[in-house]
Amino acid sequence: MVVTTAHKPDHQQINRAKSLSVQLGCKYIPRRHFRFIEDEVVVITERNGISAMKNGKHLFFHPSLAVLRKSNFELGQRDYLIESLSLKGNEKVLDCTLGLGSEAILIAHFLPEGKVKCLESSKIVKMIVENGLQEENLPDWVVDASKRIEIYEGNYKVFIRKSREQFDCIYVDPMFEHPELKSAAMNSLRPFADYSGITNEDLEIMKKITKRIVVKARWNDSIFEKYKFDRVVGSLKSNIGYGVIEL
Ligand SMILES: C[S@@+](CC[C@H](N)C(=O)[O-])C[C@H]1O[C@@H](n2cnc3c(N)ncnc32)[C@H](O)[C@@H]1O
Repeated sequence: MVVTTAHKPDHQQINRAKSLSVQLGCKYIPRRHFRFIEDEVVVITERNGISAMKNGKHLFFHPSLAVLRKSNFELGQRDYLIESLSLKGNEKVLDCTLGLGSEAILIAHFLPEGKVKCLESSKIVKMIVENGLQEENLPDWVVDASKRIEIYEGNYKVFIRKSREQFDCIYVDPMFEHPELKSAAMNSLRPFADYSGITNEDLEIMKKITKRIVVKARWNDSIFEKYKFDRVVGSLKSNIGYGVIEL
């Protein structure tokens, strides 16, 4: 891993890149001397935030998917994640797979008096999303929702086995077995993501610390066949389902 800046950086970007390189324990290379190397993770300080590149894929935070889903919901469209979580507004939700943070933001929006604890095993993904949620110019409702989001770097499989905390809901959105290659946002996440799926043992452990589990998968992934859900909701058109276990 190395750290550099975007082209034509200002002093702030350069200083930020230098301190990030210390924090991440890797080299800082000024942009004018920098060359991309295959498989190397490059952290880039931008004018507004940080991004990362690997093998030509550019990962940065953007709340657009959360914004789209919230506005679709307000226009009367069903949001199967929000439906399957069945929130009252004061729950404590564990989002095991933060990813780009879009669904954590959406969930937090529907929890005016609750909170969302998020786990992400990729250091880079966690850093970019956590940082992105502090950017200026985010919509007010995203800023408000982000106050109820806590982000931790960690593997949810380890966390659930040690946790003494109880959650009203646990949400898991592992990387799909059959990826949707048309999703630009997901394509940028892919080189940085953890691909460990979910097992029956994970679900059994989760049952000890929650009253509801929701797992997202594509209809043609094996999850809905392999594990027992009380129901699976979602639209066939989007090819995405949410398996619900209620305890
Ligand atoms: C499909 S993405 C989640 C997308 C997310 N729901 C969103 O709204 O952007 C899956 C994310 O979970 C992370 N992940 C996969 N397995 C994990 C694990 N065992 N523990 C923590 N994070 C994990 C991946 O690195 C990836 O960033």
